[in-house]
Parts: sequence; structure tokens; C-alpha cells
Amino acid sequence: MVLKNSILVLSSICLLSTGCGETEKPEESTKPVSNEPISLEDARAVYTLNCASCHGPDGTLKASNAKDLSISSLDEKAVEQMIRKGNDKGMMPYEDMLSTPEIKGLVKFVQNLRK
Ligand code: HEC
Repeated sequence: MVLKNSILVLSSICLLSTGCGETEKPEESTKPVSNEPISLEDARAVYTLNCASCHGPDGTLKASNAKDLSISSLDEKAVEQMIRKGNDKGMMPYEDMLSTPEIKGLVKFVQNLRK
């Protein structure tokens, strides 16, 4: 009886937690890569992670000779190009590191930093 009870407890723990022996199905592989634009908030997170070290949280830091993004006058295309390809003056290319929706989100975010 004691044994039966503990098996019952174990299996209910099993039901509560995910998986339990079953290999977790990677959801990503079943749905097509999302091309949905990301929100400005998500873009901020991407920016904080990848860009703020040189440009600062509000774009004005100018560390490592980075440009002040709050006074940038590049148009949408040029900003996207800059993020994708970088340049030879210290801006790094992000093409291989970020997805297109992330890059598009960043373009919006960067333009939003302007005063
Ligand atoms: C290692 C430091 C560094 C990081 C990290 C960095 N940048 Fe830059 N960025 C620079 C430098 C340096 C320049 C200026 C290059 C020049 O003088 O043309 C620049 C220029 C730019 C410009 C052009 C501004 C203008 O008006 O010419 C944009 C837009 C930009 N960065 C966006 C980003 C974004 C978005 C990220 C994150 C994905 C990022 N940068 C990450 C160093 C960095």
C-alpha cells in the first residue's frame, strides 16, 4: 500500500512537470521562422544587449568612437544597411547575428532615439 501510494505521488509529479521521459518537442522547428516585426520593447532588449555598450542606452554614449544616434540623420535604409554591414570605422556588422525582424526592429528603435 505504501509502495502504491508513492508511485501515485511520483506519477502525479510527472504530470505536473513537463516531459518526464518524453523528449520535449522543439516548438520552433514545427512553425516557420517568424517574420513578424518585433515590438519596440523587444527591440530595446536587443539594443541593450548588442548596441548599448558603444552607443549607450539612449544612443548618446559614443564609446569606441561610436556615433551619437540621437543626432543621426541616416534614413531607414541607411540605418538598416549600417546595422547589417557595419563599416570600417568601428561599427560592427550584425547581419549574421540578428534576424531580419530584429534588425528591422532596431532600425525603428534607433530612429526613435532621435530628439
Ligand atoms: C563596438 C562598438 C559598437 C557597437 C557594439 C555598435 N556600434 Fe553602431 N557604431 C559604432 C561606431 C564606431 C559607429 C560610427 C562609424 C562611423 O564613424 O562611421 C557606429 C555607427 C552606427 C550608426 C550610424 C550612425 C550615423 O549617423 O552615422 C548606426 C545607425 C549604428 N551604429 C547602430 C548600431 C546598432 C543598432 C547597434 C547594435 C546592433 C550598434 N550600432 C552597435 C560602434 C558600435
